[in-house]
Amino acid sequence: MEETHITWHDHAITREQRERLNGHRGCVVWFTGLSGCGKSTVANVVDRKLHERGVHTFVLDGDNVRHGLNASPQMLAPLGEAYAQRFGLGFSADDRKENIRRVGAVTELFAAAGLVTLVAFVSPYREDRASVRERVEALREGDFVEVFVDAPLEVCESRDPKGLYKKARAGEIQGMTGIDAPYEFPESPEVHLQSGKQTPDVLADQVIDYLVSAGIVSR
Ligand code: ADX
Repeated sequence: MEETHITWHDHAITREQRERLNGHRGCVVWFTGLSGCGKSTVANVVDRKLHERGVHTFVLDGDNVRHGLNASPQMLAPLGEAYAQRFGLGFSADDRKENIRRVGAVTELFAAAGLVTLVAFVSPYREDRASVRERVEALREGDFVEVFVDAPLEVCESRDPKGLYKKARAGEIQGMTGIDAPYEFPESPEVHLQSGKQTPDVLADQVIDYLVSAGIVSR
């Protein structure tokens, strides 16, 4: 491989110093599941509950990150067609891989900054989630907490908050996860939420119970 001439600079303040100041560890809590399964809703309830306990948190969610860092080619069109096509992201398998790679790199930074980083992306491919886990855990074991927000497709489809399932069924959009694109469920997530059966409040408590039992936040 070609030499990059890029070197890593150590930070003046260590991660441990930041965590001592915060009084808790930084980590990545990765919510994955179908569109409409409740990932963002539960992540935001966890965010509010932890914030009330004085934990430093931040939510990154697919819909929002796709407005900026991972904007679509259409959004980048003012920068020119070639640029928009090169850097804009849609929903092909490769575009999702790049979406997850970029946001994974951001979560590494947020966790290193000492935040409990709550991430809500469909992230349908095991391999892509595993790559993020590998990078996060290379820095410290136990820092990647995968939360499978498990709701049957019928439930997500009946909620259809953005009308996307209806459009996918009508053939107006292609590559919709769960309809004509795959969702590879996690085989051994740290937390498995039965999203169709419980309220967001109860589900959020299940996530927080895990974070307490793992020693990430205190009781
Ligand atoms: S991911 O697959 O690359 O992880 P991400 O979480 O960023 O997806 O974005 C998913 C959101 O984009 C969904 O909640 C939905 O609102 C919207 N969306 C638009 N098109 C699709 C599609 N083809 N498949 C899944 N979600 C889509």
